[in-house]
Amino acid sequence: MSEAAIQSDLTEAIRKRRTFAIISHPDAGKTTLTEKLLLYGGAIHLAGSVKGRRAARHATSDWMKLEQERGISVTSSVMQFEYAGYHVNLLDTPGHEDFSEDTYRTLVAADSAVMLLDNRRGVEERTRQLFAVCKRRRTPIFTFVNKCDRVGEDPLKLISDVEADLGILCHAVTWPIRRDDAFIGVYDRRQKKIHLFDRDEAHGAERVRDHVAALDSAETRELLGVATHETLLHDLELLDAAGHPFDEQQIREGELSPVFFGSALTNFGVEPFLAEFLELAPAPLARESSVGPIDPYDDKFSGFVFKIQANMDPKHRDRIAFVRVCSGKFEAGMDVKQTRTGKTLRLSAPQQFLARERTAIDEAYPGDVIGVMDRGNLRIGDTLSEREGVEFQGIPRFAPEHFTRVVLIDPMKRKQLDAGLRQLTEEGAAQVFFTSPSDVAGPTPIVGAVGQLQFDVMLHRLEHEYGVRCRLERMAGKSPRWVTGPKDEIERVARSPGRSLIYDVKGNPVVLFTDAWDLRWATEKEKSVQWHEVAP
Ligand code: G4P
Repeated sequence: MSEAAIQSDLTEAIRKRRTFAIISHPDAGKTTLTEKLLLYGGAIHLAGSVKGRRAARHATSDWMKLEQERGISVTSSVMQFEYAGYHVNLLDTPGHEDFSEDTYRTLVAADSAVMLLDNRRGVEERTRQLFAVCKRRRTPIFTFVNKCDRVGEDPLKLISDVEADLGILCHAVTWPIRRDDAFIGVYDRRQKKIHLFDRDEAHGAERVRDHVAALDSAETRELLGVATHETLLHDLELLDAAGHPFDEQQIREGELSPVFFGSALTNFGVEPFLAEFLELAPAPLARESSVGPIDPYDDKFSGFVFKIQANMDPKHRDRIAFVRVCSGKFEAGMDVKQTRTGKTLRLSAPQQFLARERTAIDEAYPGDVIGVMDRGNLRIGDTLSEREGVEFQGIPRFAPEHFTRVVLIDPMKRKQLDAGLRQLTEEGAAQVFFTSPSDVAGPTPIVGAVGQLQFDVMLHRLEHEYGVRCRLERMAGKSPRWVTGPKDEIERVARSPGRSLIYDVKGNPVVLFTDAWDLRWATEKEKSVQWHEVAP
């Protein structure tokens, strides 16, 4: 291919890419909506609901047995589908807040987010937390109000609650149409079209039949009935008068959220949402790096690792690093620089995923996520690039909040325990500490995690992937602070009652506090040492 042809291939591919994640409080319907988007994208043919959701509970996007046992979604996966000429990458995130780190890192890899709300509950705690992460990064946020098949909060009130609670402006792109308390369709304000849905026999397992009509036609009046039609016209007048105007610039800057109404369960409103969302959501944009913004249209490949996952499939005992492509074209087998180490790595056998299924790929473009085989060289946050010295910024680091000693039941398995803990640390799922700086091979490592549930996952994985059974002894200390300064001062501040001193894998001292008041006091008053929230 000529230079010009290569560039136009890249431009075309970027223009079509949409990479997003869904943020929501558990139970708002993320799994159901994900499944329906895949259904409309032709990536699956029958949504899981047809088989009875209890049986196929975590239908498409979960891997680990443990998730099924506990009914929570733990790992993140990446799904691709094509729709209306767009190439869509949907980044799935764990539902449970104990796995927030994973979710936050995945949000960094997304170009936009869909905030899913339950029409009775509106904004909930977890929605608020995840919204805050997107807002900080100025990620464009789209809102989907779900479960409209049930009577919920008044849509106008929902919108004003979202605005007041989250401090974002809203513009309703679709509007629910109800008749005799039944949800029968949506009005698309941009296309000026009514979509009326057919209640079908498949209970949402197949695409819903959709009758499209103009707002003010004899046909529409007849289909809706005069009363419903008038209520709709009245609602729309109110929206035009009182709602925020549509403003593409504000959407791109994350200041205005386009709002959609629908039901993931029955599919009503899902397709109008998907069609509008893909048009309005941004294609991959330039990303900040240590050498300034990196343009996706740059002809040199670059990307960063936002997730590492080992043993995803017991049949393939391997370790996959998920790389978000930021610029240039990725080609299987290409050599790239790993900025952190300066080493050249060959990215062979890249894959894309649809939950359990993997497919080998030859190429990928900005916005795509590829899984590359990792033999232990890669770390979360690593930049890989054809250029030297580029480092992408903004992958968040988190301090653990809970600590436990990990006691081996069979002391002969120390080597396997170390291997397992090393793996979990590299995946960013846990951090390992010791009671003395020279204790790296000592008898009882300490593990810190952001959420308690990560310990259950750790025990499960140590046993099933490494054959090591352990018992946990929870520690009272939380709120770690890394301390730097003179050694005797560090030991003095750590010796106070209620505090304990541990060391991270690099031998850096860390003080754990049991009491929030003591933590505040120490970090404000003890000035002979420096306190850090994450490893310095
Ligand atoms: P999550 O991933 O956000 O946690 O939510 P999930 O999709 O698992 O949905 C949570 C519950 O909400 C499920 O019901 C699901 O069927 C229901 N749900 C999802 N979308 C809609 C919708 O549009 N309308 C209505 N009415 N319900 C919806 P469940 O009783 O917990 O499970 P199941 O018995 O349906 O499997």
